[in-house]
Amino acid sequence: MTDNNNQNKSSNTVWHHATVTRRRREAQNRHKSVILWFTGLSGAGKSTLAHAVEEELHQLGCRTYVLDGDNVRHGLCGDLAFSEEDRKENIRRIGNVAKLFLESGVIILTAFISPFKSDRALVRNMVLHGDFLEIYCDTPIEVCEQRDIKGLYQKAREGKIKDFTGISSPYEQPSNPELTVHTGNDSLESCVAKVVSLLQERGVILTEL
Ligand code: ADX
Repeated sequence: MTDNNNQNKSSNTVWHHATVTRRRREAQNRHKSVILWFTGLSGAGKSTLAHAVEEELHQLGCRTYVLDGDNVRHGLCGDLAFSEEDRKENIRRIGNVAKLFLESGVIILTAFISPFKSDRALVRNMVLHGDFLEIYCDTPIEVCEQRDIKGLYQKAREGKIKDFTGISSPYEQPSNPELTVHTGNDSLESCVAKVVSLLQERGVILTEL
């Protein structure tokens, strides 16, 4: 598949087609590749759930990788802050990285707030229908704020962090996600089970691996 970002400033480049294709990699892995896109507020449990799903899939013999907002912002996206423009660029970069993982035959799990519908739609539209599964980690802000594991909500309330999602910057809820999990109420195990069932329903992994 060719690049479709329409932002190619490097002219005179030619797409090289691999002989080891995604389909061949998938056949070797004995599962399909997919992007599992976890979205939700800071503290909603995206990373916890993504890593727990990864653990389960790994034990089932799947090839997986988690891309996590806080981690990626230490490297690839370390030059970006939290303005609307920077978040857009953050998600554009992650979307492209996720697409590369998809081509590599891996089940890629991403845990980013990704607060804007348009940015999530951009990534969805970068890949084929069915390759992007949006999972909304629906934890009310009150619960996230009460947990405040990183102490960031308190800082945001005190005005020490600007553009904080849910406080001074919006979060646009997904209107039609492939799955909603109530990470505030339901147990981690039951949320993991729902994600794994989704993968079975979509034929990404076989029921009997
Ligand atoms: S996103 O909006 O661009 O998708 P991303 O998921 O990469 O955000 O990073 C979110 C993480 O950065 C949060 O979990 C939190 O730890 C930290 N963070 C620091 N400042 C902010 C802020 N202003 N808004 C939200 N999260 C922030």
